[in-house]
Amino acid sequence: RVMAIVKEFEEKCGTPEGKLKQLADAMTVEMHAGLVSEGGSKLKMLISYVDNLPTGDEKGVFYALDLGGTNFRVLRVQLGGREDGIVHQEFAEASIPPELMSGTSEALFDYIAEKLANFVDEEEQRFHQPPNRQRELGFTFSFPVMQTSINSGNLIRWTKGFSIDDAVGQDVVAGLTKALQRKGVEMRVAALVNDTIGTLAGGRYTNSDVAVAVILGTGSNAAYVERAQAIPKWHGPLPQSGEMVINMEWGNFRSSHLPLTEVLLRLAEEASFFGDEVPPKLKIPFILRTPEMSAMHHDTSSDLRVVGSKLKEILEIPSTSLKTRRVVVQLCDIVATRGARLAASGVLGVLKKMGRDTLRDDGKKTVIAMDGGLYEHYTEYRECLENTLNELLGDETANSIAIEHSNDGSGIGAALLAASHSLYADEKS
Ligand code: BG6
Repeated sequence: RVMAIVKEFEEKCGTPEGKLKQLADAMTVEMHAGLVSEGGSKLKMLISYVDNLPTGDEKGVFYALDLGGTNFRVLRVQLGGREDGIVHQEFAEASIPPELMSGTSEALFDYIAEKLANFVDEEEQRFHQPPNRQRELGFTFSFPVMQTSINSGNLIRWTKGFSIDDAVGQDVVAGLTKALQRKGVEMRVAALVNDTIGTLAGGRYTNSDVAVAVILGTGSNAAYVERAQAIPKWHGPLPQSGEMVINMEWGNFRSSHLPLTEVLLRLAEEASFFGDEVPPKLKIPFILRTPEMSAMHHDTSSDLRVVGSKLKEILEIPSTSLKTRRVVVQLCDIVATRGARLAASGVLGVLKKMGRDTLRDDGKKTVIAMDGGLYEHYTEYRECLENTLNELLGDETANSIAIEHSNDGSGIGAALLAASHSLYADEKS
């Protein structure tokens, strides 16, 4: 019975090349629809108001706040222009206390503003550098936001476990700015972005071929550079660059080709996989987190003792046979492979929309900046994603496409965008 369920699951999760190509096409179609009108597609294709990516000329000291991944970060970046690049960078990291994830927006923003206030104090004391002009900040806020300008935007809805009702529909920059005032921090929010856009900007700063950014972590999303003329729903002036960065919000993509996965619980219920009783913990959604799944998947010990101890620790299953552990590893493999191959098909969809899925006449490369815990720490997943993308593109084109890990690029990217949207940008200092 166990093997029959596993086999059925494996079949349902199958991602042959043909299916991935269909999915990529479906993604391209939805991208087009989302660019035509608001609500035209499940893909929101949000206009970021970023129509210029960093050039390398940015100068000055800028701060960034990065909220929406596993950790919340504050950063200070000193930019030295084309000659010197990033002269200095410093960051502090904290997790958001769970009670603040569903309280009030005032409580959340006060907590963030306080951390930022302490960080600014420490940094300025260390560098003996009181600001000679107003401090400016890039705010990476990685939730769906309807931007109204480069530094304002209303929260559409929370994701990733946050649910603070009073913030929905409100301008997040106004919320943060008020909290900064309450804490006595003088700081102007110069740019509001999300992690994909920050990652794109951070990636572009070091590599001018970066044109797409993908986050695979607590959440998953992508951003890319679109031709402004290919965005019918954009009614503003045509940017000088002719380009506009689009935040796809691809986590919202749905397709009838995507099966749901309920497997371990089903095995426990229908095949007594963990003994006569179904472990109660197994019924808690999301209890098995990716870091634990990754640890079990990468267990190379002969008795799969990591798998045994994780099942004990997390699901409170006192003992498991080697056979059971082997099946668990097999399930991890099926799930990770499916996820990685689907992510690759999403990337192919974006490349298709950009006309970069075939070899370019100008011989130029396209680089995809990637970040997020899943991509960074789950080796099997990352390798499968990279191999699948190559498989889908074919050898020749694959040589012109590269994936680059943009380590914490989103925070630096936000600081860079604050620099390009600084009130002092023309002073070149
Ligand atoms: C980080 C980026 O490295 O990755 C964040 O700096 C991003 O902006 C995060 O949100 C996503 O990954 P995770 O695994 O922390 O959700």
